Amino acid sequence: MLRRQILTGVGAAALALAAVPALAQETVKVGLILPMTGPSASTGRQIEAGARLWMAQHGDMVAGKKIQLIIKDDTGAADQSKRLATELVVNDKVAVLGGFGLTPLALSVGPVATQAKVPAVIMAAGTSTIVATSPYFVRTSFTLPQNTAPMAQWSAANGIKTVVTLVSDYGPGLDSEKAFKAEFEAKGGKVIESLRAPLATPEFAAFLQKAKDLKPDALFLFVPSGQGASLMKQVNERELAKAGIKIIGTGDVTDDDQLNGMGDALIGMITSHNYSAAHDSPENKAYVSAFLKATNNMRPNFMSVGGYDGMALIYKALDKTKGDTDGAKLLDAMKGVSWTSPRGPMSIDATTRDITQNVYIREVKKVDGQLYNVEFATIANVKGSN
Ligand code: DHB
Repeated sequence: MLRRQILTGVGAAALALAAVPALAQETVKVGLILPMTGPSASTGRQIEAGARLWMAQHGDMVAGKKIQLIIKDDTGAADQSKRLATELVVNDKVAVLGGFGLTPLALSVGPVATQAKVPAVIMAAGTSTIVATSPYFVRTSFTLPQNTAPMAQWSAANGIKTVVTLVSDYGPGLDSEKAFKAEFEAKGGKVIESLRAPLATPEFAAFLQKAKDLKPDALFLFVPSGQGASLMKQVNERELAKAGIKIIGTGDVTDDDQLNGMGDALIGMITSHNYSAAHDSPENKAYVSAFLKATNNMRPNFMSVGGYDGMALIYKALDKTKGDTDGAKLLDAMKGVSWTSPRGPMSIDATTRDITQNVYIREVKKVDGQLYNVEFATIANVKGSN
């Protein structure tokens, strides 16, 4: 009796030992925290579709491990992002966090990633300083200084002497305001007024009237993804272009997610950005056509490649660690990686963990009956932060 009990016990223990590590090793969980509802829902939709497309094209096995994607909706509220990150780390034991649709949402997750030693891939947010707030942050999106400085250089080189800037009054807006002014004035231009509109109220009439009254050569705009259509509707209603004011901005304003519905008044608008659905490369043509097919014709925007390349980075890191999910090792494996994305060449700076990528100057044009940002100049390998 005793012997049988011991034998059974040993057998059960052996079974448990054999079964538990195998199960624990097989699945690597990746937890994306995204605004799937609320004002930034398009960012969530685009990133999820990009991440899922990467997995559909590359399979769900990496280095012998099965990748499980978990998507959580923070509704765009920073306290929710932080709570979900904690749950994903503590309960789901994710190996990697990712997503973060807006700067404040990313910032709220930083301390969780630091404490848990879990890499956190910023796939959307663009304020330059975010990555430095946690040693576990890496970025596959863009930064506003990176995307803005080339617009200022182009403006100074193309006869624009005075500019009014109008940006959303939070991290990325302030970053773009500062980068535009620094670069434009270094090249001999003058920013005659810096206007800031509250992020929560997409009501721009008073700011646009002020800009019009100041009669600058150009009005530079930044609003986050999802607000471009409403801003441009108000710009058109105020007839700034007719008053001789050139409208310029970052590509967040002429967002591919909304551009085609913004109307022909946008034709000719110049912006600078890291991604256009019209980017002319074999990688991007394949990406856009697969994305349209997978999403019932949603055009991919710059957020989508943040998700697609974020998954690419996670796969490449797991490949390098041969499936080891230790946070510090994964993070180390992400540093210095480079590859060709649908947006063009990109790499993760080994020192800053921020993204280095090309920035393109583009003009809104009608192509096959649809509005696109058509790239006509490239500023190669621009660093995300220093
Ligand atoms: C941020 C969000 C956006 O939608 C965008 O286009 C740029 C920056 C941000 O909050 O960091």
